[in-house]
Amino acid sequence: MIALKDKSSGTVVGSVTIDGELVEFHQGETIYQVAERCRREVPTLCYDKRLEAFGACRLCVVEVEGIRNPVASCTTAASEGMIIKTKTKAVDKYRKTLLEMVASENRNLDIDALAGYASQELGTLLDRYKANNGRFEGKQSGESNEDDKNPFILRDYDNCISCYRCVRVCAEQEGDHAINVMNRGFHTQITTEFGNDLRDSQCTFCGQCVQTCPTGALTDKKAIRAKDLPGDISKTRSVCPYCGVGCAVDLLTKNDRVVGIQPAMDGPANEGALCIKGQYAFDFVHHPDRLTKPLIRQPDGNFREAEWEEALEAAAEGFTKVREKYGRHAIYGIASGRAPHEAAYMVQKFIRAGFGTNYIDNCSRS
Ligand code: SF4
Ligand code: SF4
Ligand code: FES
Repeated sequence: MIALKDKSSGTVVGSVTIDGELVEFHQGETIYQVAERCRREVPTLCYDKRLEAFGACRLCVVEVEGIRNPVASCTTAASEGMIIKTKTKAVDKYRKTLLEMVASENRNLDIDALAGYASQELGTLLDRYKANNGRFEGKQSGESNEDDKNPFILRDYDNCISCYRCVRVCAEQEGDHAINVMNRGFHTQITTEFGNDLRDSQCTFCGQCVQTCPTGALTDKKAIRAKDLPGDISKTRSVCPYCGVGCAVDLLTKNDRVVGIQPAMDGPANEGALCIKGQYAFDFVHHPDRLTKPLIRQPDGNFREAEWEEALEAAAEGFTKVREKYGRHAIYGIASGRAPHEAAYMVQKFIRAGFGTNYIDNCSRS
């Protein structure tokens, strides 16, 4: 028997057989969670492991011996002695048909990866199951709100498949309840209170709905601006410097230009969450007004450009004068939340080791 390490800190309560392999399961685990630990590739669309399982898309179906119809693995608890098959011809056919039905809701599969973290999930699954996105045609639900007057989120509900991940992440992760579901069937609509634009709602523009949307119906307006820039998208893991929480982010770049930010779903401090600043406030990096030369303040209060050597000498002279006249505690350093972490580290070292004072802070400390 394979005993797998469970990250979810459960107690082992029994065993199930998955595709012929005997594995332990833990208290409260679903079939999907056990299958995922065993590295079975069970497809999902409405599932986001940070959220309560919802059971809407049925794509995660598996066969369980003794149960006539396939069951949704994300909402079915594992129980002692279950014999589960995650991949059979019948299950694959079922999934393919479901995908073809979902695709009738969303026929635009040309979604750029810059749209959001999960934006290509539907397209990838359609390819994987060789599903025909034109098999079922008919009415679509949801009215687009593409002209929502906000600079961050494009809401194109023509691409919506009613998985409600956006609504659930807003409520369960952000605790905001800025969006919800209105009506049913073909009249289903993701909406704000009274159908207002997002900026007139409770929305904090954390971007979590965008990043969990599996179809690109919600798109990162800032990142998508770089869609036509040449080059591939690179992701670089970093930590947001704006406050002391330490949210892990992936910086999206094209040819050394930062074009967007996505939260790291495995970031220990944030698990895919960010605030508006961490998500969208990166324009300063390439802003044309950004200083490229050091400035020295003149006696009349104005600044003049200088070379680094001259500027460093002027700064050293100023610090020395203050320390000699008023003592080391007269010096107080403040690092910028827009500076790299290495620079913030150097500033505290400079103040502590250089002047012997702990009067050092960061503008974004929280
Ligand atoms: S951006 Fe955040 S607060 Fe606004 S609707 Fe999306 S999840 Fe909710
Ligand atoms: S907008 Fe996206 S996340 Fe929200 S229900 Fe539609 S497809 Fe799902
Ligand atoms: S992923 Fe299980 S029902 Fe959608």
